Amino acid sequence: MDKASLMEEIQRLKKEKNAVILAHSYQLPEVQAVADFVGDSLGLAREAQRTRARIIVFAGVYFMAETAAILNPDKTVLLPDLEAGCSLADSIRPEDILKWREAHPDGLVVAYVNTKAEVKALADYCVTSANAIELVSHLPEDKPILFVPDMFLGAHVARVTGRQMDLFPGECHVHAGIRAEHIERMLEEHPGAEFLIHPECGCGSSCLYLKPDAKVLSTEGMVRFAKETEVKDFVIATEVGILGRLEKEVPGKNFVPVKADAICEYMKMITLEKVYASLLEMKHVIRVPEETARQAKKSLEAMVAVG
Ligand code: 13P
Ligand code: SF4
Repeated sequence: MDKASLMEEIQRLKKEKNAVILAHSYQLPEVQAVADFVGDSLGLAREAQRTRARIIVFAGVYFMAETAAILNPDKTVLLPDLEAGCSLADSIRPEDILKWREAHPDGLVVAYVNTKAEVKALADYCVTSANAIELVSHLPEDKPILFVPDMFLGAHVARVTGRQMDLFPGECHVHAGIRAEHIERMLEEHPGAEFLIHPECGCGSSCLYLKPDAKVLSTEGMVRFAKETEVKDFVIATEVGILGRLEKEVPGKNFVPVKADAICEYMKMITLEKVYASLLEMKHVIRVPEETARQAKKSLEAMVAVG
């Protein structure tokens, strides 16, 4: 089937089966084009919670589909490719949290949404890059806090809120690869541009040192900011899939990636063919063990309520 026929078939199957497609901003442009909703992790989690459709096809990575399944247990959540994982979510194990809790029995654990359900189940709160600062700033002052698993996001949250936190040393291989030298080169080449940087980037603090007015934003935050500002030129430090979304939703402005090969191979595993097969054959159904889901739901509900 050619691309246009595949897209048509996907639309037909969606109607026939009462399904929606939720897609992350890093998805391939043609996958974003067949989606009913495109957004960041927070927007997608909220959309998964509110949809009335019977089936959710998640065009994203495993932890996102799992989050949708936990928040909306009455729906069938499909992930078109089970191999679509996340290096950041893989960087932490439940044992890492249990060990910290043993040493800090009254401590609070804040887990980035980029974690597996078993890790979320052991956390007190989940956050996304869009609401981590707000949630952490409201935590009680007298409790030790562990932030997992992204050390760069954790350091950013600690810097902005002034809160002391233990940071787990996890990272996303795509964002950790965006370094100060990439920022320096772009600053030279685009002196008048706005710098929009995702908090998972390895260059977070050096970027703010080199460009103190850089904006640290989630993917949705980047789209919103680019729409609202008068500025026309932007340098974007995150996975390059967001560029297509920015160009489509904010026409007439210029977007340059800080690192053109910042590509998440997990996000790109979701192709139109796999979305079609997923709807047609009802695969792959994401199931979370009941007890894990029950515990993880508490920390996820705190997440969707903030910001
Ligand atoms: P956002 O929540 O900003 O979309 O980020 C998700 C993600 O996986 C970043 O790598
Ligand atoms: Fe995970 Fe990084 Fe890919 Fe986001 S970009 S899904 S954090 S590996």
